[in-house]
Amino acid sequence: MFRKVLFATDFTPYALSALRYVIKLKEAGTEEVVVIHVVENVTLEAMVESCIWSKEDVKKCEQEIEETVVSQVKEKLEGIKKELEEHGLRVKTVVKIGKPAVKIVETAKEEGVSLIVIGSHGKSRMEEVLIGSVAENVVRHASNIPVLIVRR
Ligand SMILES: Nc1ncnc2c1ncn2[C@@H]1O[C@H](COP(=O)(O)OP(=O)(O)OP(=O)(O)O)[C@@H](O)[C@H]1O
Ligand SMILES: [Mg+2]
Repeated sequence: MFRKVLFATDFTPYALSALRYVIKLKEAGTEEVVVIHVVENVTLEAMVESCIWSKEDVKKCEQEIEETVVSQVKEKLEGIKKELEEHGLRVKTVVKIGKPAVKIVETAKEEGVSLIVIGSHGKSRMEEVLIGSVAENVVRHASNIPVLIVRR
């Protein structure tokens, strides 16, 4: 039923709790996992701001920062990939730049997954709200795909 799932991570302990469930889903028939991290536009924009002071071409500076960020994310995703593979799952990693919820739902559709697994909260750790805004917007927009939200 949940043969292929999408696991979205912001590398927080909340997402780690969700990862534990992804591993458990093997018992429910999961064979393949797509692991995604979305680099937020705002994060990247804040970082490339320093390029105004760069002696080299501004565009080139921005491109270099983007490449560095993406390769750091890829490295972190590799660690998760390895762990899932050790549990006998097939894994694909994806890095996108944009709005997390939009990119998560877009990727879920592109990959044809039958479940999205995410944490209830993330970086903001606002536990007084029921779920974070990325979690909320994924549920709101993933119209035909069920979403498993895991609490820490
Ligand atoms: N940039 C991201 N890329 C991939 N998955 C993400 C990203 N941001 C959040 N998620 C997923 O969504 C879950 C909930 O995080 P969310 O961002 O909604 O909570 P928050 O950071 O506490 O609140 P908010 O972002 O609204 O301030 C995370 O545990 C993770 O699974
Ligand atoms: Mg967040």
